[in-house]
Amino acid sequence: MKMVSVFLVALFLIGFWDQTNGGRPIHRHLSSNGLGKTPQMGWNSWNHFGCNIDENIIRGTADAMVSTGLSKVGYEYVNIDDCWGELNRDAQGNLVAKASTFPSGMKALVDYVHSKGLKLGIYSDAGYYTCSKTMPGSLGYEEQDAKTFASWGIDYLKYDNCFNNGTNPQERYPKMSEALSNAGCPIFYSMCEWGDQNPATWGPKIANSWRTTGDIQDNWDSITSRADQNDQWAAYAGPGGWNDPDMLEVGNGNMSTVEYRSHFSIWALMKAPLLIGCDIRSATSETLEILSNSEVINVNQDPLGVQGKKVSQQGDLEVWAGPLSNNRVAVILWNRSTSQDAITANWGAIGLPSDAIVQARDLWAHSYLPSDLQGSLTSTVDSHDVKMYILTLSSG
Ligand SMILES: *[C@@H]1O[C@H](CO)[C@@H](O)[C@H](O)[C@H]1NC(C)=O
Ligand SMILES: *[C@@H]1O[C@H](CO)[C@@H](O)[C@H](O)[C@H]1NC(C)=O
Ligand SMILES: *[C@@H]1O[C@H](CO)[C@@H](O)[C@H](O)[C@H]1NC(C)=O
Repeated sequence: MKMVSVFLVALFLIGFWDQTNGGRPIHRHLSSNGLGKTPQMGWNSWNHFGCNIDENIIRGTADAMVSTGLSKVGYEYVNIDDCWGELNRDAQGNLVAKASTFPSGMKALVDYVHSKGLKLGIYSDAGYYTCSKTMPGSLGYEEQDAKTFASWGIDYLKYDNCFNNGTNPQERYPKMSEALSNAGCPIFYSMCEWGDQNPATWGPKIANSWRTTGDIQDNWDSITSRADQNDQWAAYAGPGGWNDPDMLEVGNGNMSTVEYRSHFSIWALMKAPLLIGCDIRSATSETLEILSNSEVINVNQDPLGVQGKKVSQQGDLEVWAGPLSNNRVAVILWNRSTSQDAITANWGAIGLPSDAIVQARDLWAHSYLPSDLQGSLTSTVDSHDVKMYILTLSSG
């Protein structure tokens, strides 16, 4: 293994972070919903279960969210994805929970999940059907469906993009935003427009998060490509609205523990929603250890809310970093390689103060590096693994 050399103080460069936030004013119609001050955390049924869901799975997941301790470290939304409803609306045109799989109805499920101290999310589509085509979409029924969700006590809506017949997302998505605002109680609005029309540029006005990519899959290429696609929109994320490179695959079985650790670390640094996508009722201790790393979660939930970015790259060896509150910096050294290349971030070239001294906390080893650092941090990183640190300026 070669060394990844990173010249840390680079990260304190003031002008550098100006590019990420730019003082860009965000005028949200939805700001009154008060949600998404930090990226949403929870679980969603799709990545593991697809259409094979029922109310027992949802209840059992809520139970497991509490019993595993995941709720204690911040996971709160239990989100039902596609396939929860009947194909046809009722005589009044209302959406109806599928009797065969959700016989107790959505109101009872909301009450159950709320009784656990958690929140319930639901799914619809800005088209004529949802993606499974087993239930109607909400296009043309935005006000009515938003009121239905509110009447059930729903806390969160994921709004998909299938069967839209080519109508403009910038017309379809604001309609549901307005409808949710009018529905009478705050509902988190998660736009799932797949990044088609650069939703980062118009989503912040109407939504709490917006997908920047197509659907994720449980493999390395999918993770790395989604990270890169999401990275280009970093400047548009901030408290109240977040870029969404899709839900987590951690624990679904097709990647190694090391790869899942990379996936989780980069998602946390990118201020991505942390929505668990495995079956947490049967999650292994390795999976729970990744998902429960509160030092990494704290980076994601930091109140400053600036999305970390890829700041340097040499071949497949990359440095990702972003500022945190209290003048701290989060850094990830990411080895995406199977080759022997080494990474060098030249600090002179990025104009760093040569005298800055930092303390580095390793967020996966849960320990401080033995001595303060000046000028650079050097570490080995295994293939497809990360090292993740928080750097704090030493007082001396
Ligand atoms: C990255 O991983 C590859 C494959 O294990 C290894 O050959 C290489 O030395 C690693 N690079 C660094 C900088 O640690
Ligand atoms: C959407 O397009 C399909 C295929 O052209 C058509 O059959 C359907 O009627 C359209 N739906 C609406 C609501 O316009
Ligand atoms: C599992 O990983 C392999 C190797 O990366 C990949 O070819 C395959 O498509 C993955 N399966 C899924 C379901 O993503």
